[in-house]
Amino acid sequence: MVTLQDVRARSILDSRGNPTVEAELLTKNGWVRASVPSGASTGVHEAIELRDNKPAFLGKGVSNAVKNINALRKYLVNKDWTQDRFDRFLITKDGTPNKGKLGANALLALSMACCKASAKVKHLPLYEHIANINHSARISLPIPSFNVINGGKHAGNQLDIQEYMVLPTKARTYSEALRIGSEVYHLLKKLLQNDFGRSATNVGDEGGFAPPLTCYTEPFDYIQRAIEEAGYTRKVKLGIDAAASEFYKKGTYHLEGQQLTAEQLLDRYVEMAKAYPLASIEDPFEQEDFDSFAALRKKLPKTQIVGDDLTVTNVDRIKTALHKNACNGLLLKINQIGTISEALDAAQLVKAHKWGVMVSHRSGETTDSFIADLAVGIDAGQIKSGAPCRGERLAKYNQLLRIEEELGKKARYGGALR
Ligand code: PGA
Ligand code: ZN
Repeated sequence: MVTLQDVRARSILDSRGNPTVEAELLTKNGWVRASVPSGASTGVHEAIELRDNKPAFLGKGVSNAVKNINALRKYLVNKDWTQDRFDRFLITKDGTPNKGKLGANALLALSMACCKASAKVKHLPLYEHIANINHSARISLPIPSFNVINGGKHAGNQLDIQEYMVLPTKARTYSEALRIGSEVYHLLKKLLQNDFGRSATNVGDEGGFAPPLTCYTEPFDYIQRAIEEAGYTRKVKLGIDAAASEFYKKGTYHLEGQQLTAEQLLDRYVEMAKAYPLASIEDPFEQEDFDSFAALRKKLPKTQIVGDDLTVTNVDRIKTALHKNACNGLLLKINQIGTISEALDAAQLVKAHKWGVMVSHRSGETTDSFIADLAVGIDAGQIKSGAPCRGERLAKYNQLLRIEEELGKKARYGGALR
């Protein structure tokens, strides 16, 4: 239980330079602060991010979301809150199925701040408080998924697949995984610069390189070479986020200038999984096509098939995916659903069905490291926070280092993918 003494909010800028919401709550032990991220390749079923649509900030202002938080102040102060009651109160006050009235960005900033406030008054590290409210049987340091080559909506190159990721699944510890990610990233940079010059290693929104490659398998070849040079072949697997809704137009998938049916695209994934150590494929098909996800699951039973735009951290969408056996992994993005309690419900539901859980940042981020503690506290086993580069990405990866240090011998590394 936490008693709130004051509430305030403001608009700040995210890592892309767009406005986002920051909320602060006052407890007897002082202020806590939380800020929310923002996606670019957003799913149509995500909770609504309230934007002003006025000339300021080219329509992207969040002053209405900030006003909505300030208007809630009178209901929130001088009352005792549990996370569950706080979030249910916010959901009721909004009253819409997609949080479109008050804005998921307004509600999530408050919900995250409430979680931090409770941890603070209990004098607990945030991950431990989250483990308590989630009734987690155990906690762990997640396997990081480093997004080292960016394409799709996050980069100005020709690559259709949005993210090429390096997963140090067989590292012994989280800190070793971070070292592996950093070394591979820098060797990859050298390889790309040798072949394409320095402009090839300008980075995309999530810190990965955005080289002028066009063939969707080329990034794998470069990443594999970097991994070999670093000497980590046996410790590292690969992952992609196709973000396929972004290259799905009028019933076909536009990949490398070709138009593919879902069946043809499925065959491409199967070939990829044969040719490369591909452990995880996120959003292989567009966000309504549960059946093609399920077909891929059958073809690649050992690969993690992750729902992101498909499932949007929403228990109803996840239930459909469970029913159809469409996925065995959930991308957990707290701003897709808008409260911490609902995100915990989503994680609990999929874990009960033995899915992997990958806690995720957004392409537009702040330096808030909440999701690092979240990944540890719910024993997610995986996190993706972009490349090991750019402050807003490292805010999460570095927080995990601190948690690992604090846990000492109790720090367990990794989950399902090990
Ligand atoms: P987004 O990208 O934050 O732009 O949606 C991340 C993802 O698709 O996983
Ligand atoms: Zn995604």
